[in-house]
Amino acid sequence: MADLDALFTAAKAIRANAYAPYSRFRVGAAIAAADGRIFTGCNVENAAYPVGSCAEAGAIAAMVAAGERRIAAMVVMGEGENLVTPCGGCRQRIREFAALDTPIHVAGPEGVRKSFTLEELLPFSFGPDNLDLRERAS
Ligand code: THU
Repeated sequence: MADLDALFTAAKAIRANAYAPYSRFRVGAAIAAADGRIFTGCNVENAAYPVGSCAEAGAIAAMVAAGERRIAAMVVMGEGENLVTPCGGCRQRIREFAALDTPIHVAGPEGVRKSFTLEELLPFSFGPDNLDLRERAS
């Protein structure tokens, strides 16, 4: 698996590409995939506000498009004093491709601030295991 320093650096680099003219709140996300590759995403806002997408969603889309489906670890980087934990929708997106003990590292530009497991962020979650596994093959 990619090490945490590499993941942090990747999240910081992609955050610079965020398109956030409305909120002015740039977010970068980096996934360490199970195969060792790193996939990144940034938030992409839209004049039609609800159509904007989160950094985590972009990183997950890049991972799946590249043929990988397992998240081994993730860094999410935002700014400001508060922890930029993934939004509710993104917690569920991560749930689709990660184990409950997968680490989610929440970072600011200066470094990792706090680390969570997915289960801490999304307890008692609904996921693929709740459905017939045969549905997941495609
Ligand atoms: N945002 C993310 O990209 N990820 C998160 O986990 C929290 C919020 C983005 C969405 C929007 O473009 C901006 O941050 C402000 O909400």
